[in-house]
Amino acid sequence: MPHRPLACVILAAGKGTRMKSDLPKVLHRVAGRPMVGHVLAAVAELDPDHVVVVVGPGMDDVAAAVAPYPTAVQEQQRGTADAVRAAFGLLEGFNGDVLVLYGDTPLVTPETLRAMVNARRQAGNPAVVVLGMRPDDPGAYGRLILNARGGLEKIVEYLDASEEERAVTLCNAGLMAFDGARMTGLINRIGNANAKGEFYLTDVVQIARTEGLPCAVVEGTPAEVIGVNSRAELAEVERIMQRRLRKAAMDNGATLIDPDSVFFSPDTRLGRDVVVGPNVVFGPGVTVADRVEIKPFCHLEQVSVASGAVIGPYARLRPGAEIGEDAHIGNFVEIKNARIEAGAKVNHLTYIGDARVGAKANIGAGTITCNYDGFGKYHTDIGAGAFIGSNSALVAPVKVGDGAIVGAGSVVTTDVEGDAMAVARGRQQAYPGWAARFRERKRAEKAKKA
Ligand code: UD1
Ligand code: MG
Repeated sequence: MPHRPLACVILAAGKGTRMKSDLPKVLHRVAGRPMVGHVLAAVAELDPDHVVVVVGPGMDDVAAAVAPYPTAVQEQQRGTADAVRAAFGLLEGFNGDVLVLYGDTPLVTPETLRAMVNARRQAGNPAVVVLGMRPDDPGAYGRLILNARGGLEKIVEYLDASEEERAVTLCNAGLMAFDGARMTGLINRIGNANAKGEFYLTDVVQIARTEGLPCAVVEGTPAEVIGVNSRAELAEVERIMQRRLRKAAMDNGATLIDPDSVFFSPDTRLGRDVVVGPNVVFGPGVTVADRVEIKPFCHLEQVSVASGAVIGPYARLRPGAEIGEDAHIGNFVEIKNARIEAGAKVNHLTYIGDARVGAKANIGAGTITCNYDGFGKYHTDIGAGAFIGSNSALVAPVKVGDGAIVGAGSVVTTDVEGDAMAVARGRQQAYPGWAARFRERKRAEKAKKA
């Protein structure tokens, strides 16, 4: 089959007034990723030849977020048809298929987008394919009016609809696929004689019909096209997205003891037989291998965990943490930019930053790598099989050799040789009978005063 090119236009020029935010609406995050990023990820699955994001004037942060995809600026928000027109310049001469999406509907799936493109390429060759849905409450959505043959005749915006049209339950989800060869001509004929005085993209259907061109509907699920207009809708979309990500994790062989309390990023990768306890948060960039246990209340971000490791409860794994096979990271332990090698144990109340902990080393409770002097960051290297006594401070840059032992409570400022023992603290002094004599004297003083 010859390759038929595809272009995607994502409308994101809306200010999102109801978000009451200084941030453009499409940059609000769902599962840690800007909404428009989710739309772009869905679109990327179709391997399009062109992607254009339509933004409003001054939305440089949106342009930066969608780069390297190009943006077109819609100077004034005069409606969805006007917004698509803003992308025409970047699509000049393009006559494949054009998919138009909204930047504030982050739940849309590649399957639905594919269904629309496929419908556009059907034998009937519809000029326009519209995504329809039947929400429980059709509210103010535009209504899809079909003809006797099931073809799409027109879309009426709610404000302009008659009683009879408002009773229709098939609604416009907003997404459309166009025959690129006809799109420009059809959209350029759209006017703004309607209740809002806007250029409605939805009018394109009636215009195509008056030219005798067929139009079609593909039905999707309403949950996929929920548009975010307010913080409450953002939270609702987050809930649906998390439900999807939890299900995907379980479908891939992870156990979530309390799925509703685990939060994922779209790129979280969990292996088989991973067990995740309640209240665990996966920030972006986390990869967990097979048979890892993550106990309750852990927070992970940009880390990798090798098979068989045990994490938490209450562990914080920050960017650059690499946890080796069968390693143990325990409660109230923070690891940042550090490699914990196979079988090492960092079990209690510890900070390890900018470091390597060798295989099977044991890091005692309360150990701190002092990696920062207020200006720069320095490395701590702990050898394989080393034993760091509790409550030690390792002042970087410093090296503890393989198999060395550091006595509890040490402040280590110089390198420790392999297999050596180092203690760096005040020597213990003992004064026999001192405590008893002290108490006697104090009791006597108190009796005199009374
Ligand atoms: C639109 C549809 C309606 C459909 C509903 C589904 C039209 C005329 N109406 O209505 O039939 O049921 O979506 O959610 O298309 N935008 C721009 N520039 C503009 C106007 C809008 O970029 O000048 C962008 C917005 O940022 C948004 C999208 O287009 O991402 C949709 O605009 P919105 O104003 O939300 O349209 P609705 O009134 O919801
Ligand atoms: Mg809307």
